Amino acid sequence: MTVYSFASSHAPLPQDVLAALSDDVAEWKHSGFSALELPFTGKDFADILALTEHELRALLNLPEAYRVLFLQGGASAQFALLPMNLLGSAPHCDYVQTGHWSKRAIKEAAAWCDVRVAAVGSGGELPVPCSWDTSPDAAYCHYTSNETAEGLQFQCYPEISDVPLVADMTADFLTRPIPVERFGLIYASAQKNLGAAGLTIVIVREDLLGRGRSGIPAPFSYARQAEAKSKVNTPPTFSVLVACRMLGWLRGCGGLDAMAERNGQKSAKLYAALDGDFYRCVASPGSRSPISVCFRLPDSALDVLFVEEARSHGLFHLQGHPQVGGIRASLYNAVPECAVDALVSFMSDFKRRRG
Ligand SMILES: Cc1ncc(COP(=O)(O)O)c(C=O)c1O
Repeated sequence: MTVYSFASSHAPLPQDVLAALSDDVAEWKHSGFSALELPFTGKDFADILALTEHELRALLNLPEAYRVLFLQGGASAQFALLPMNLLGSAPHCDYVQTGHWSKRAIKEAAAWCDVRVAAVGSGGELPVPCSWDTSPDAAYCHYTSNETAEGLQFQCYPEISDVPLVADMTADFLTRPIPVERFGLIYASAQKNLGAAGLTIVIVREDLLGRGRSGIPAPFSYARQAEAKSKVNTPPTFSVLVACRMLGWLRGCGGLDAMAERNGQKSAKLYAALDGDFYRCVASPGSRSPISVCFRLPDSALDVLFVEEARSHGLFHLQGHPQVGGIRASLYNAVPECAVDALVSFMSDFKRRRG
């Protein structure tokens, strides 16, 4: 039986990428060593890191003024590292509160700075950026571009002029083109659209690097990591190689415009299957995420049955976020369209039998 994963925490990897990685693990380029054994101080890893950055810069058309940092600790570590590194002498930081992950970001930041909430989303609807009450003296304004737990996405990128815009793009990084020049900083854990857990990408505008407080541990200092080309200490070498392979795959697929189109097609099929009386989507149409599709059945007992039966049809990891409940299908870049077709067909059958 063909199996498909709709997991939110980890995306599947494309077969081509897995095959290349399996060769890399067996032996890295006739070196006699596995890719897992390459020292981070050597030329082989320096080449991998340089190629990864090159691929990422090309894919995003990244302006010169931005630095790319390859860090560890996940997006969750960035929640605290942002104010540590960017507050400078500003009195506070602005945050847009829209769901589970932005609340987590706010809670962690509040231990390091005064947090001002510039906008709040509610009822499955995201606050439109023109309604955000940002303050010109904030160090930055932070938002979560895709709320993974609730299935919400800002479908357009905000444009704010007075303070640097900071985005947690963990769930939708590289799923569509990004106008990087609108941002002061973008961060994302790699395990959704860029490969394997352990790597966190931070893209930061160079002029923001001098604002860190004193005493930040060196591996967590953006300025120190930028200066040391992300090698203040041992970087997650194998996760960087996985990212490198994923970036090559994305390029081969036609880049971010092609990805956006493909992701739009996948999610349109699934949302079309939801707009009925049995499956209910909480997110309002203008805020629905093409990456995290969340929905509910008429009662929670049916939710449980749905997840169990789906598993026996080869459709895995469909349970919703523990604090939100319901069903969640994550449609990251590497989830193929045939996985969505299989899910839609199962949903129609399930509805016919249980509806
Ligand atoms: C939007 C968002 N931010 C942050 C995180 C946390 O990422 P990590 O577990 O890598 O710290 C997640 C994880 O699902 C997420 O979806």
